[in-house]
Amino acid sequence: IVEEARVADLDGVRLVVSAGGTREPLDPVRFVGNRSTGKQGAAIALSAARRGASVTLVAAELDGAVLQSVVAESAVRVVSVSTALELQSAMSVESASNDVVVMTAAVADYRPAEVADGKIKKDDAGDELIVRLVRNPDVLAGLVAVRRAGQLVVGFAAETTHDRAELLALGRTKQRRKGADLLVLNSVGWTAGFGSDDTEVVVIDAEGREVAEARGSKHEVADALLDAIAARLAR
Ligand code: CTP
Ligand code: CA
Repeated sequence: IVEEARVADLDGVRLVVSAGGTREPLDPVRFVGNRSTGKQGAAIALSAARRGASVTLVAAELDGAVLQSVVAESAVRVVSVSTALELQSAMSVESASNDVVVMTAAVADYRPAEVADGKIKKDDAGDELIVRLVRNPDVLAGLVAVRRAGQLVVGFAAETTHDRAELLALGRTKQRRKGADLLVLNSVGWTAGFGSDDTEVVVIDAEGREVAEARGSKHEVADALLDAIAARLAR
């Protein structure tokens, strides 16, 4: 009955979700990256499409199998990006025509200051190679800054703590910097979070109040988050 009630509850809603992890090049064959596979963002894209939304997935270097699961679902439009700067321009274009903007992508906070034209060689670098990194723009904060009336901007916050109170405290501090309509807090670490099938999240609103909580598969968490989004769109 719950499944049936959800069918088509996002009819007419345009949703864009970013997923995966950006890669910041060092030279033509190497990059600085992270462990994100894009599973959570792909689950949100697939669930939203199933519930009637027209969905765009901005995919940053998704795990191959995860990308296949989305491509197999023809209802989802996929835009591929690699770096944080590419993700920023794609999201800026897409957010202009979408009602709901969800940022699950693990955006690299820093990128190499210089990108070598050719492969970095040991003979040139010697025994020690020092790479200088510069800050990337905060894509989510930028999207919040240009948010249109009625548009919902949703962020994720990855923290390496398993203590719920600490997760909430870190999430509320982050929310003060981001100003997202909803911020989804989750624990990540060496074993939890990135790449895993099961997850546990707490969702807070712009004022830092807890509005939802979910645990289970990334698909179950996606549906719980879409419930919170649908409830907000309805009022
Ligand atoms: N994010 C972003 N642009 C960045 C970094 C992060 O849009 N340059 C987004 C992520 O997609 C996520 C949210 O901001 O929706 C929180 O990302 P997170 O890495 O948890 O927070 P940061 O603000 O980067 O803080 P820190 O990594 O220092 O904890
Ligand atoms: Ca970060």
